[in-house]
Amino acid sequence: MKQPVVANIYLALASALLLHCVCRTEGHRPVIIVHGLFDGPRQFETLKLFIMKSHPGTHVYMIDLYDYIFSLAPLWKQVEGFKHAVYPIMQSASDGIHLICFSQGGLVCRGLLATLDDHNVHSFILLSSPMAGQYGDTAYLRYFFPKLLKSEVYRFCYTTLGQKVSICNYWKDPHNQEKYLKTSSFLAQLNGETAHHNITRWRENLLRIKTLVLIGGPDDGVITPWQSSLFGFYDENENIVEMKDQDWFVKDAFGLKTLYLQGDLKKYIHSGVLHTQWHSNSTVYYESIDEWLT
Ligand SMILES: *[C@@H]1O[C@H](CO)[C@@H](O)[C@H](O)[C@H]1NC(C)=O
Ligand SMILES: *[C@@H]1O[C@H](CO)[C@@H](O)[C@H](O)[C@H]1NC(C)=O
Repeated sequence: MKQPVVANIYLALASALLLHCVCRTEGHRPVIIVHGLFDGPRQFETLKLFIMKSHPGTHVYMIDLYDYIFSLAPLWKQVEGFKHAVYPIMQSASDGIHLICFSQGGLVCRGLLATLDDHNVHSFILLSSPMAGQYGDTAYLRYFFPKLLKSEVYRFCYTTLGQKVSICNYWKDPHNQEKYLKTSSFLAQLNGETAHHNITRWRENLLRIKTLVLIGGPDDGVITPWQSSLFGFYDENENIVEMKDQDWFVKDAFGLKTLYLQGDLKKYIHSGVLHTQWHSNSTVYYESIDEWLT
């Protein structure tokens, strides 16, 4: 009489283990990758390999939209485009997804999360994204404005025409703040720097994520100031004001302070990483991305 009972226990244990294993391989949430300015999905093959190696069976989607020169399209337009690509993936992932967004793509993702009332993003990972704006005449800028000094860019960017170019949507000239607030149709709204009707809804939507991961570093070379990747930015004297001293943080204008107080905001600073290397660096991946993709 004893034997079958033991056998049954073994059987139950075995199936529990098996079930556990099935759950774990199926349990990896899909990962969606959104590229940055002047690049496309192809630049993220290495990142995909890192993810597949560490979490076998994960579905990794690299969205092939607004690549290369088309990444200059206005950001709200890009948000709409990415929404159509990303939404069906979210809907088919009952357990939610993770979102990794690089550089300018981080701003597209901010727009997505703000305006998608039923998104199911768990980890929102921002890889060297100019979250508090950009004010620097790096190689990227010279490509688009070969003859303009950074102190002059606002003359183009802070116009209706300028706001039709993605870079201008997050160009933040610390010496022309009034014009910025008046014309910025993207960043100033997202960061709650200007009042608008949707701010409460956008804030609630952002707060549905589980974790916000910010990654950046001093040797980036493109994001200026580099602290913008961690929500820091220049004041009018071009001194850095850290995230915690930013007006919109103190006022919790778009939910950042809430995430921080809940312990759901993680920051990683890596030295020695050039802008174009963030997504291909295994140290960066294993130290700051990997654990958030479960
Ligand atoms: C707020 O949302 C509505 C509907 O989604 C939209 O028509 C409107 O343009 C939005 N307002 C702002 C300031 O973005
Ligand atoms: C990778 O990242 C580490 C910092 O985490 C850095 O020291 C190293 O220089 C980087 N390597 C490359 C090739 O970018």
